[in-house]
Amino acid sequence: MCGIVGVLGTHEVSPVLLEALRRLEYRGYDSAGIATVNDGHLDRRRAVGKLVNLSDLLVHEPLPGKSGIGHTRWATHGAPTTGNAHPHKAGPVAVVHNGIIENYRALREELHASGARFATETDTETVALLTERHMAEGLAPVAAAMKTIDRLEGAFALAFLFDGEEDLMVAARKGSPLAIGHGEGEVYVGSDAIALAPLTDTITYLEEGDRAVLTRTSIEIRDEAGQIVQRHAKRVSIDAARVDKSGYKHFMAKEIAEQPSVLADALRAYLDGDTIRLGADIDFARIERLTMVACGTAYYACLTAKYWFETLAGLPVEADIASEFRYREPPLTPGTAALFVSQSGETADTLAALRYCKGRADRVLSVVNVAESSIARESDVALPIHAGVEIGVASTKAFTCQLNVLLLLALKAAVDRGRMTEAELAATLGELRGLPGVINAALDRDETVAMAARAIAEARDVLFLGRGLMYPLALEGALKLKEISYVHAEAYASGELKHGPIALIDKTVPVVVMAPRDRLFDKTVSNMQEVMARGGRVLLITDAAGAAEAGGDVWRTIVLPEVAPVLTPILYALPAQLLAYHAAVAKGTDVDQPRNLAKSVTVE
Ligand code: F6R
Repeated sequence: MCGIVGVLGTHEVSPVLLEALRRLEYRGYDSAGIATVNDGHLDRRRAVGKLVNLSDLLVHEPLPGKSGIGHTRWATHGAPTTGNAHPHKAGPVAVVHNGIIENYRALREELHASGARFATETDTETVALLTERHMAEGLAPVAAAMKTIDRLEGAFALAFLFDGEEDLMVAARKGSPLAIGHGEGEVYVGSDAIALAPLTDTITYLEEGDRAVLTRTSIEIRDEAGQIVQRHAKRVSIDAARVDKSGYKHFMAKEIAEQPSVLADALRAYLDGDTIRLGADIDFARIERLTMVACGTAYYACLTAKYWFETLAGLPVEADIASEFRYREPPLTPGTAALFVSQSGETADTLAALRYCKGRADRVLSVVNVAESSIARESDVALPIHAGVEIGVASTKAFTCQLNVLLLLALKAAVDRGRMTEAELAATLGELRGLPGVINAALDRDETVAMAARAIAEARDVLFLGRGLMYPLALEGALKLKEISYVHAEAYASGELKHGPIALIDKTVPVVVMAPRDRLFDKTVSNMQEVMARGGRVLLITDAAGAAEAGGDVWRTIVLPEVAPVLTPILYALPAQLLAYHAAVAKGTDVDQPRNLAKSVTVE
């Protein structure tokens, strides 16, 4: 993970680098640092913890200069200490890095044998030390950096700055994304366009293996083979202003509240009357099997979609976790389309799984939030979810927007495969169009959910149960709760309860049951009885009919509006998100930047 930025500017760069790092903090927040060249002198400042510690340090120890690089870290090699924080500096060179240098041990031994002294435990320091050695051998900065890059294995986005060189930066990309931004008499690099949004909307994305030599007036890009290549600049539309909390206490709260409007935006983008327009020709009648791959919350979106595709369209689906799928070498039979779901579009395991499927699957599709991401660019068809920038580490609006697009795909599949008539489609789309309004109404349950969450926050363990479409939602609810409130939570399919987890039930373990009054509701009521008979406390999330039928022994009930069964996963995501959010607030944890996590997981 980690976020990197570089600026060859016309004004002081420290504040510019800090602002860009603030936008990249979602990629990691264990430590941060910047380096600049001022009057030919290369210097740096680094601080452990959140970015605010670095900005405090810069108040007392300013770092002047109009050329600089910066880094916000998610520790991989070496603890989050000041010493391990980037930029790493060796003699006349400073480096920031996102990714993992896989051959760093071999490089370290080689450098050690030639007398190099290491100051850190990181893989990145080898990059700085190698470049220093090449410069000591007489190579100019650019040649020294290129020779170093040639030696590196693994995944990296790198930016180099050199002592005595106020108008020079070298950047490289392999496996980790890197964007070059074009300004007026200025040039920038950044892990993504969001970091550069206040500076420019004109971006060139480096491709795999590319290296760039940047000055304020020139950009030379070479591919891995050393050939000069043209990479076109694009206009990107990132509303710089949207990357703020707009008065909410946390990004997560803002992003939960945005769901009605972003879902409505997505429906407007995909629906033309009662026709689903995907912007590309996808005929599900010609697809025999769908393989869906993702990580974390995006994987739970895939699991939900599996129910939709199989039930509505009769299309067999395999849904898998990317880190397992990629190494299992699964055979893909003819007629298989592969579908990858990713908010960031940069998740390393999902990207690797996609690359495995290229040439093996008939078609590679993706459902992404970041339209310019690697996963989007490497897919045959990339379908945007239109969620807008998501900053909170815990995915909320991206999840419901992923579900929204996946449901549209499943509905299209149902029509293409003759399982649904146009009239039935029109009726379902009518319900779907009403969903943003229903979600708005569900957001009014905030205080009821908050009261339940305050009780949940006191528990050490929580179980989530769900059947059918609610099973993936239970998994998502448990993931949300543990990742931001650090309350241990597990989810099970309700029917699995008596196959083991029921042993955990006592009055200290709240059981969250997600169950609209659908055809499986009676079975879920039986499971709830089994819990309550053992002293367990049930928090039931249901609709009015479900609440009436569940009886009075339930500990707490959250009543949601009634919607068509097929839409329940999108609606029931709301209380799951709010429950986790309010539990985290009650515990006083860092809601938007929970410990040990980062938003974009670009390492394995
Ligand atoms: C949890 C969460 C993660 C991501 C996962 C995949 O709230 O956000 O589990 O869903 O890291 O990330 P993307 O969707 O960017 O591939």
